[in-house]
Parts: sequence; structure tokens; C-alpha cells
Amino acid sequence: MSGSFMKELDGLREHGLYRRMLRAEGAQGSHLTLEGRDVLVLCSNNYLGLADHPVLKEAAIRATERYGTGSGASRLVSGNMALHEQLEARLAAFKNTEAALVFNSGYAANTGLIPALAGSGDLVFSDRLNHASIVDGCLLSRARMIRYPHRDVNALRRLLDRNRGGTGRKIIITDGVFSMDGDIALLPELVSLKREFGALLMVDDAHGTGVLGPGGRGTAELCGFESAIDIHMGTLGKALGGFGAYVAASREIVDYLVNRARSFIFSTSLPPSVVATALAALDIVDSSEGSSLRGRLLEHAGAVKKSLRAAGFDTMDSETQILPLFVGGAAETMEFSRRLLDAGIFVQGIRPPTVPRGGSRLRLTVMATHRQQDLERAVEVITATGKQLGII
Ligand SMILES: Cc1ncc(COP(=O)(O)O)c(C=O)c1O
Repeated sequence: MSGSFMKELDGLREHGLYRRMLRAEGAQGSHLTLEGRDVLVLCSNNYLGLADHPVLKEAAIRATERYGTGSGASRLVSGNMALHEQLEARLAAFKNTEAALVFNSGYAANTGLIPALAGSGDLVFSDRLNHASIVDGCLLSRARMIRYPHRDVNALRRLLDRNRGGTGRKIIITDGVFSMDGDIALLPELVSLKREFGALLMVDDAHGTGVLGPGGRGTAELCGFESAIDIHMGTLGKALGGFGAYVAASREIVDYLVNRARSFIFSTSLPPSVVATALAALDIVDSSEGSSLRGRLLEHAGAVKKSLRAAGFDTMDSETQILPLFVGGAAETMEFSRRLLDAGIFVQGIRPPTVPRGGSRLRLTVMATHRQQDLERAVEVITATGKQLGII
């Protein structure tokens, strides 16, 4: 029986789709010791470099000393600590909503909140390139999932029109920043569609939180549509340098989630150290340090994108710190990634099922804490390797 797993694994290897983890040592920063050697990291979501920030580490240590290591239970049993409530009040203020609720990860948030808000008889309109956790949340919900072509608001309008009426709820769900493409949802158009068709709008801002907008409040702030979004979801483990996720919404929706979101109800809550880390990260995002980190991140993203485009790479429609370098085939993509790693540059190859077939690419991400000379050297090596492989 177990031989059948081996056969499938062999099939994955044959098609360049086999995945394996590389061991990193040392703290998450712009450099890592990977499988024993120093590499420049160009594939982390630690965009602001906060994952190794002394203030966050100190906050985690102090919270552990004061409150211990674990929360003991689900929030609805005995695990609702004052720190959780403090973080939620802070997140609600950060997102300008009535209330917020913390989840254990972005994956747990999406697979908990979507089935809570939508069920059989309801319709969920989901961008085709939304993150896997949204797709899984939709599948778990038993609502009808209607996937619309990526950022195609005209197609979405036609689908909404075709499904006018009915008594079920309609929810439009989109990533704020698309995680593998680095482009941004067309929020103004989505807001007018949700108003016209009486739908709710949910934005997953895993990659915009802490990064986009003058205050780092995310894609909605950047687009000027914070108050028009019904459900803001974001993560605490990417730019905020810790772990966990949040939903920010009306008090009514948050109360409903407390009563209905299974990943919230049936799971031990985040430990005090992680909650304290998120509070410390929000302090930094709100400070002048946060705004200069965001400025540096944007500068790095702009400069690297400009150089790679000038070299002939297709960076697709990226508008953010996530820079795809389109390759096409999975095997070529992994060979590109392997050669870069040999040269001390760590950029992950992204293959199906994370992206559509024929859409394999390198996903390069920059950090505020990269040194300019490291990024310049990386562009040179990536360009030379791309030429050797005939990609440019
Ligand atoms: C758009 C999006 N949503 C949700 C998640 C899941 O978040 P987490 O890593 O906190 O589970 C990710 C993670 O990569 C993501 O990119």
C-alpha cells in the first residue's frame, strides 16, 4: 500500500514538482545560514526585517516571564488573556473598524471565517489567483464558489449580474496584494460592485499589512477605501515579524465569528509571547521607524524591478515588494533557483499547484533591511544566470 505514495513522489520528481525543505540556521534576516552556507535571502515575507528586531524579541521575553509560555486553552474555555483583548483593540484602531479578532494563522483565519460567513445556498465570488487558504475556506463552507478571472472586474460584474436575486448571502473575496504576482486588487471597482449587487467584500491583506499605505495599514488605506470593506483579514507573521492573523470588521461580524468560526472556537489561542510581539510590531509600524522602513522597502522594490526589467525579465504586473520573474516550465524554474543558490542567492521557484500550469516563476521578495550592494550583486547574478539558461 505504501508503495503507491512512493510512486506518486517519483511522479512529482519526474515533473519537477517534488518539494523539500532546506535547513536554515540563525535568525531570520536578510542573510541566513542555509544548509551550512551563508546566503542572501530574497524569498522571505519578513518584509520590514522585524522578525529579528530587538524590540520584538524583548517584548516576547517579557511577556513569557510575566504570563508563561502557553495560553492553556481556546479563548472560549480559559485561554482569553488580557493581552489578546489588548491586541484586538489595537488592531481595530489600526484598521479603523469597530472590532477585531485574532486567529492562530492566516490559514486558520480563512478556513474559519469563510465557512462561518457563507454556507450552503450562499455565493462566494473569488479571484482565480486568491491564496490557497481562501480556496480551502470556500470549499469547507459548502457555499457555491464562483471563481472569476484574475482582477477582471468586467467578468465579475457579469457573474454577479447572472446571479442576481436569491436569498443567500453574496461575498466577494480578494487578496489585497496577490501573493505570487505582487499586483494589487482593484479595490475601487470591487467596492462599487459590492454596493451595486448588495454583496459583502472581504480583503485578505496578508502581504499589504504593515507595508502599503502611508501608515502601513494596507491595501485599503493605499486605495482610500478602508471603511468600504466589510471584512479585513491580515497576518501577523509576514511584515509584522511574528505569527498569527486577524480579522477586523463590525462588532456584529466579530461577535458572529466568535460564535461560529470553528478554527477560532476549537483551537488553543496564541501564546502570550506571540501576542506581545504583535503589539510591539504595531508600535514600530506606527512610528517614524516604521515609515522609514516602508520607504526603504519601496525604494528597494522599485530599483530591483527596474534593473531586472531592463535586463529583459518579465516581472509580470508586480506593483509591490513581491517580484515574480516569469519562467514558464517547472523544471527550468527549479534549475534557475538551484543555480542561484549555488551562487549564494536564495530565491524560491514557485510551481503548480501554487501557480497555474505553465506559470512557474521565481518569486523574489525584497526586504527593507537588505543592503543596496547586496541587491545590486543579486541583480547581476540573476541576470547572468537568466542569460545562461536562455530565459532572457
Ligand atoms: C494571501 C495569503 N493569505 C493567507 C496566508 C496564510 O497566512 P499564514 O502564513 O499566517 O497561515 C498567506 C500565506 O502565505 C497568504 O499569502
